[in-house]
Amino acid sequence: MADSKASLSIDGNVVADLPILKGSAGNDVIDIRTLGGAGYFTYDPGFLATASCESEITFIDGDKGVLQHRGYPIDSLAKQADYLEVCYILLNGSAPTKAQYDEFTKIITNHTMVHEKLVHFFHGFLPDAHPMAMLCGVVGALSSFYHSDLDINEPDQRMRSAHRLIAKMPTIAAMAYKYSIGQPFVYPRNDLSYAENFLHMLFSVPAEEYVVSPTVARAMDRIFTLHADHEQNASTSTVRLAGSSGANPYACIAAGVASLWGPAHGGANEACLTMLEEIGSLDRVDEFVAKAKDKSDPFRLMGFGHRVYKNFDPRATVMRETCHEVLSELGIKDPLLDVAMALEKVALEDPYFIEKKLYPNVDFYSGIILKAIGIPTNMFTVIFAMSRTVGWIAHWDEMLGQPGQKIGRPRQKYTGEIDREFVPLSDR
Ligand code: SDX
Repeated sequence: MADSKASLSIDGNVVADLPILKGSAGNDVIDIRTLGGAGYFTYDPGFLATASCESEITFIDGDKGVLQHRGYPIDSLAKQADYLEVCYILLNGSAPTKAQYDEFTKIITNHTMVHEKLVHFFHGFLPDAHPMAMLCGVVGALSSFYHSDLDINEPDQRMRSAHRLIAKMPTIAAMAYKYSIGQPFVYPRNDLSYAENFLHMLFSVPAEEYVVSPTVARAMDRIFTLHADHEQNASTSTVRLAGSSGANPYACIAAGVASLWGPAHGGANEACLTMLEEIGSLDRVDEFVAKAKDKSDPFRLMGFGHRVYKNFDPRATVMRETCHEVLSELGIKDPLLDVAMALEKVALEDPYFIEKKLYPNVDFYSGIILKAIGIPTNMFTVIFAMSRTVGWIAHWDEMLGQPGQKIGRPRQKYTGEIDREFVPLSDR
């Protein structure tokens, strides 16, 4: 419903009256859908000022450092709920009752196994294949097991796909890790929590009993929550665009995994740890900060900056606390944390970073925690993808549930040749 309008005039002539629509929070939006009819497109590469959809799932206020899922602040969720409760909230809109939570947990738990034939998919990868490459391939192939359950117009079938994906991503992620280190796959256990089960599938071996550390499980669960959803980021927008064509949910999530892999997005946690290892010692921090500020140097401080947060990423605040908790409870002195803290201090006091509002983001601390837990760097983005699966599928489901949903089909500003005469090769 339009509350007011914007009149677009060019050279003094009004070419379009554009309704201004209000949300429940955040910027109002100018509805430009009729602009094509007036002979114009808007131009916004990178979507710096474009609202691509209407959503009720996650709200971010980048200037105030606010992140809320279905209206619940992220720090309350990270400290007072567990990841499966956050999954329920993202999928269903409100916090569950105890009975609803127990039922949801039971459903997810009973979907954690994968078809035995899926095991063979892994054996096509070389031993040194990146776990993200395995995740991309295997998740996309999951659709081949569920042909009878892929009617995306059926809400129940959409929700069952959501449950299967949330449940099976840890199993597949752990399989990618086990394959990469040449150890046997470990089956999920129904007596463990979501985070405990993932750690069990990652680290247990047939040769001995593996006991999950409650500290590590709690940190893992919090990392899952802090990565669960984040509005219309690149990978979520990828999932929505793929889903808008009617592609099946497993293919859409595989597209999200592929988009998240980039170092500018979810690949930043792996890139951040590689950067900290390259810096190596406190006496080289200034050298790398100088590189990050040098316009002729493509180097950027991984884990810093954000398209939306021009204040501290609220997830980084919680992640920083968790980082210190885990390292002190596990009695780990990690020199990389010292480098990270020095880098954070220098960056937060440096005029370049202050002027460009570059703060540590969610990826800056998660890598240090994951390393402390014993997870290899090449698994960091896999864990991000696992965590974000619920956000991706919640947006996919919301989009398909909206009336009048259309295929996403952006236009362009064309700057190429036009109306050229083609001369056949024989005459050239
Ligand atoms: C995630 O969108 C989401 O919500 C993503 C995410 C999620 O949960 O889904 O939050 C997860 O992807 C977090 C971001 C992880 N990426 C990194 O840590 C990689 C390093 N950061 C960046 O490359 C960058 O900050 C982005 C990609 C995150 C944001 O890029 P923008 O918004 O397009 O900003 P920009 O590249 O135009 O940078 C603005 C200025 C530039 O300088 P000028 O051209 O204006 O002179 O800031 C500079 C940049 O050079 N800059 C940096 C920098 N990030 C931006 N300079 C040094 N180090 C950096 N990290």
